Amino acid sequence: MPRTADDSWDIATSVGATAVMVALARAAETASAEPLIRDRFAEVLVSTPELEGVREQVAAWWTPEPDDEAADSTVDSRHMINYQAVRTHFFDAYFAEATQDAGIRQVVILAAGLDSRAYRLDWPDGTVVYEIDLPKVLEYKAETLAAHGAAPVVDRRPVPVDLRHDWPQAVRDAGFDATSPTAWLAEGLLPFLPAAAQAAMFASIDNLSGSGSRVAVEIFGVDQEKRREAEQKWQELRAKREARGQDTSFNPFDLWFDDEGRPDCADWFAAHGWTTRVTTALDEGLRLGRAPQSEERPFTNSFVTAAKP
Ligand SMILES: C[S@@+](CC[C@H](N)C(=O)[O-])C[C@H]1O[C@@H](n2cnc3c(N)ncnc32)[C@H](O)[C@@H]1O
Repeated sequence: MPRTADDSWDIATSVGATAVMVALARAAETASAEPLIRDRFAEVLVSTPELEGVREQVAAWWTPEPDDEAADSTVDSRHMINYQAVRTHFFDAYFAEATQDAGIRQVVILAAGLDSRAYRLDWPDGTVVYEIDLPKVLEYKAETLAAHGAAPVVDRRPVPVDLRHDWPQAVRDAGFDATSPTAWLAEGLLPFLPAAAQAAMFASIDNLSGSGSRVAVEIFGVDQEKRREAEQKWQELRAKREARGQDTSFNPFDLWFDDEGRPDCADWFAAHGWTTRVTTALDEGLRLGRAPQSEERPFTNSFVTAAKP
């Protein structure tokens, strides 16, 4: 289903299923012999009966076909799991530095999905973590973890709101204080937002950020040429898989807003006075001993971090 301006979803449908996809990767990494990250809640979150269909769809999307020339790292599960491990590790470290070293006590996770950081990271006393996502996604996570006996280890405040709507008011209503420094995260989000909503989000982050705030953003899916290449390969794979009767309805590319006019994130924050830094996923993967199988996506992605003086 193509995206529309006012579409909505739960954890098992549309953009909600992409949160399951990345949590599946974190679960696989956590269960591996030498995990780079340990997210013990990921398996719990992806294992419910209601997600059975989504798990199958994701598996159909990313299972490699070794004897198939069309198969490449675009849809290779090991490559994807490695990438997700590197990205989770990077943003875990970002939060540790922002809170433990820089003393920030207010955190906003934009499009939190099945992110379990409020349940698993070592937050200093007094930290408040706001999680923004659609209502049903946040409900699913809280209810599933509560049923498992898990509780947040920090003051977690869900903010059920669409990031295309007035989320700054919603986060203020939940207690957010724009005069305090904040550590923001937008991981796995940008192409799921229309360009105008992305621009408004950057402006709101800047407006709501006191001196000493930080932001971290995962940059992916904005290179039109790479996207076209990846889609072409997926079309070839899809035809083969459909011929075998597999469910190929899940494809994250279908869920991206393909609109032009997105500013470069690092340039945008730099132009607004933030000190920015770009870390490529490839460099980070190499640094962490996770040399990718190829330099294809998602290792073409990068992580932008910025600090407001
Ligand atoms: C790929 S998942 C990433 C989830 C999480 N950040 C992570 O890395 O595990 C994308 C998430 O973005 C959320 N999302 C996308 N567009 C949104 C919007 N307009 N408003 C609120 N949440 C949105 C989805 O519900 C989903 O949870």
